[in-house]
Amino acid sequence: MLPLVTKQLGLSVDNKQLLHNIWLELTDNHVTVIMGHNGAGKSILLRCMHGLIEPTEGTIHWAGCKASSIETRKKQAMVFQKPLMLNRSTSANIEYVLKLRDKSESLTQKYLQSAGLEHKADQPARSLSGGEQQRLAIARALACEPGVLFLDEPTANLDPGATLKVESQVISASQQTIKIVLVTHDIAQARRLADDVVFMSDGTVTEHSSAKTFFSQPASAEATSFMSAYIR
Ligand SMILES: Nc1ncnc2c1ncn2[C@@H]1O[C@H](COP(=O)(O)OP(=O)(O)O)[C@@H](O)[C@H]1O
Ligand SMILES: [Mg+2]
Repeated sequence: MLPLVTKQLGLSVDNKQLLHNIWLELTDNHVTVIMGHNGAGKSILLRCMHGLIEPTEGTIHWAGCKASSIETRKKQAMVFQKPLMLNRSTSANIEYVLKLRDKSESLTQKYLQSAGLEHKADQPARSLSGGEQQRLAIARALACEPGVLFLDEPTANLDPGATLKVESQVISASQQTIKIVLVTHDIAQARRLADDVVFMSDGTVTEHSSAKTFFSQPASAEATSFMSAYIR
């Protein structure tokens, strides 16, 4: 799947420039965190990376293949802030995806265990707590065996305990060499998870640095101001 390369990526909708001049290269199988203020363009960039939105300028490729090509999209999965649960049991949510992908339903147990939900297998998925639903959404995404997992603010609605459980699921996925691209504006979470940080402001990327560099000394004025607002 890797590298992901964007060249001069831009997106205009109804004459409004939502993304502009984005040059990025994601090269390793670790956790990339995208940060920035509300409205910076993080979710839209994630959708472009996932091939859901075609850019109007520039290019975006995964290992040389267009992000929007069907073969590339099949190797990726995405989880949103508000998990979308099918109106059936916890285990049936996983079985549904396994069936779609022609995989054995006997794998259901493995994915339920990875989410710590084996004891909730028969419970209607929509009756699970917010944290449990998010872990199920991630387990269901992992059941697609993606090369890349996109997470758009997956813990924004969760308490600290539920957040940590989701994070450990994400870490374990990344240890299984699944590339993680995660959007968050939770700096503490970014510090816990990020190997590299992409910072966005006003529809563009102001810097892309290793986590170590970013958290010790962000290079762009926008990131410095974002970080200082949180410290105060
Ligand atoms: N389909 C769309 N049409 C027009 N404007 C949009 C559309 N989707 C998002 N936007 C605008 O693009 C900007 C960036 O949105 P978004 O990527 O959701 O920000 P973030 O995820 O960083 O909070 C916002 O100003 C939003 O209103
Ligand atoms: Mg967003």
